[in-house]
Amino acid sequence: MIKLLKRLKSKEWLQVFVSLIFIVIQVWLDLKLPDYMSEITRLTQTPASQMSEIWFAGGKMMVCALGSVVSAVAVGFFAARIAASFSQRLRSLLFSKVDAFSMEEINRFSTDSLITRSTNDITQVQMLITMGLQMMIKAPIMVVWAMTKIAGKGLEWTAATGVAVGIMVVVIATIMVFVLPKFRRMQTLTDNLNRVTRENLTGLRVVRAYNAEHYQEEKFEYANEELTATQLYTNRGMAIMMPMMSALMSGLSLAIYWIGAYLINGAAAMDRLTLFSNMVVFSAYAIQVIMSFMMMVMIFVMLPRASVSAKRINEVLETKPAIIDGAVTEGKKGMEGEVEFRNVSFQYPGASDYVLHDVSFTAKKGETVAFIGSTGSGKSTLVSLIPRFYDATEGNILVDGINVKEYAQEALHNKIGYVPQKAVLFRGSVSSNVGYGDNGRKKPNQEDIKTAVRIAQGRDFVEKMGEQYEAEVSQGGNNVSGGQKQRLAIARAVCRKPELYIFDDSFSALDYKTDRILRSALKKETAGVTSLIVAQRIGTIMDADKIIVLDEGKVVGNGTHRELLNTCEVYKEIATSQLSEEELIS
Ligand SMILES: Nc1ncnc2c1ncn2[C@@H]1O[C@H](COP(=O)(O)OP(=O)(O)OP(=O)(O)O)[C@@H](O)[C@H]1O
Ligand SMILES: [Mg+2]
Repeated sequence: MIKLLKRLKSKEWLQVFVSLIFIVIQVWLDLKLPDYMSEITRLTQTPASQMSEIWFAGGKMMVCALGSVVSAVAVGFFAARIAASFSQRLRSLLFSKVDAFSMEEINRFSTDSLITRSTNDITQVQMLITMGLQMMIKAPIMVVWAMTKIAGKGLEWTAATGVAVGIMVVVIATIMVFVLPKFRRMQTLTDNLNRVTRENLTGLRVVRAYNAEHYQEEKFEYANEELTATQLYTNRGMAIMMPMMSALMSGLSLAIYWIGAYLINGAAAMDRLTLFSNMVVFSAYAIQVIMSFMMMVMIFVMLPRASVSAKRINEVLETKPAIIDGAVTEGKKGMEGEVEFRNVSFQYPGASDYVLHDVSFTAKKGETVAFIGSTGSGKSTLVSLIPRFYDATEGNILVDGINVKEYAQEALHNKIGYVPQKAVLFRGSVSSNVGYGDNGRKKPNQEDIKTAVRIAQGRDFVEKMGEQYEAEVSQGGNNVSGGQKQRLAIARAVCRKPELYIFDDSFSALDYKTDRILRSALKKETAGVTSLIVAQRIGTIMDADKIIVLDEGKVVGNGTHRELLNTCEVYKEIATSQLSEEELIS
């Protein structure tokens, strides 16, 4: 928690300081009230006192009370401001941190936990600051101050107050022992609930089609109930606490008056008045002491949960991304678009086996290099090493003659037009999706976007959409077909005007004809640009300059279609299963 608070800015510390002043004022005013109370008591008991004197004392008391209210409002105002601006900054920090994470860190935390951490956990911390700032500071000041005021006013009364405080401490400690561990559990359960909900929503179609609603509901119920049970447990603990505190408070007043009655009874007539007014004052202060303890209890209720949250937020903020940015911004001259793998092996973080073994190849500027191989042979993994979604475990990858690890990631990504295996569209318009991101040069204009869509063979369907290039695309691109989604994803890469295309199985949802036309348009319009194409269909890659055949992460063939037909068994097998005799020879 303290570590997290170090991230408060000096402006916020200043506000904390100002609220501190207001808190001290408020405590002072609150503690002033019993003094006037005793004065009024004394005045009413003295036959000679004037009504105006009582009015005057009462008036001062009113002013004090009002001042206290104003201070409390001011403190509340500052606390809310500090908490809101602090949590806003925490959210931004978390967001940009997570943005810098490589796939490894994202997988380690899990998406759901990252969502809870940037929403629910921050809210917990925010709540603690809003409430805590007032009570955490106010309560101890109040206790100490009030105690000094009543010290020496009566041994019996002090003893009674001491007993009450003792009982309270024991009660709070006992409840805390039971409740504390549950708070830690609560945040993890919230993650869990988040995961089940998300899984259900993203997989809704499958859930429906497989009649799995009941199964999903049970899963949800289980997660939900677990969380509810934990919350109930902690809330019950807290529910016991509050009435106990009130009982204690009333009990203490009663005890003070009882003791007072005895004392007054036994005292001489002239001392009685002083004793009586002392008693009134003492009980007022004693109540303040107990109230302060109650405030501290409230803090104790919130603190454990918030500190668990703070720890979870810190965990994310303190994680160093495994991918370290380099400094190089330019590749070697004359080698633009060249990609070379030198003895690259790769193992997913935490996995026991290598997915790629000793892969070496070169794709020269302007060449089209294709990758083929059975499912799970490591094609997607291979191409994902180029933009550094992961770093190669062994060996080097060079883009434009320079190791990818040496590039500033932004510069590296500026060179690449990457189309993932699963096309991703964002909520917005066709234009915003195609002209997405920044390539370090000028922003694409409407013409660039149109050209890109035309090359990606998307013009027909885009221009049939109601508002054409401004037509709405819903989240995840759910309102366009699979093939249309792929074409928009390809258009996005084209619009970027990269030196190097990476198509990870990006033509799979296109019909053969569109596939062919698209590739020839690409070739014509983007001559001189290197293309790496992952594909399952021989037809898509037959005319590539070089075809690399992968089998269980090893390169088992490297050459043109014709060469491979004669030299590579695996390739021949794939080819004969897909093409007819005539097509094979052509
Ligand atoms: N994030 C990951 N963590 C651990 N292992 C992974 C991860 N992603 C993929 N793998 C493993 O790596 C291997 C290669 O996966 P990859 O996605 O590269 O195959 P692929 O050749 O692209 O297959 P496909 O043709 O089905 O797209 C698989 O055995 C898979 O189980
Ligand atoms: Mg793949």
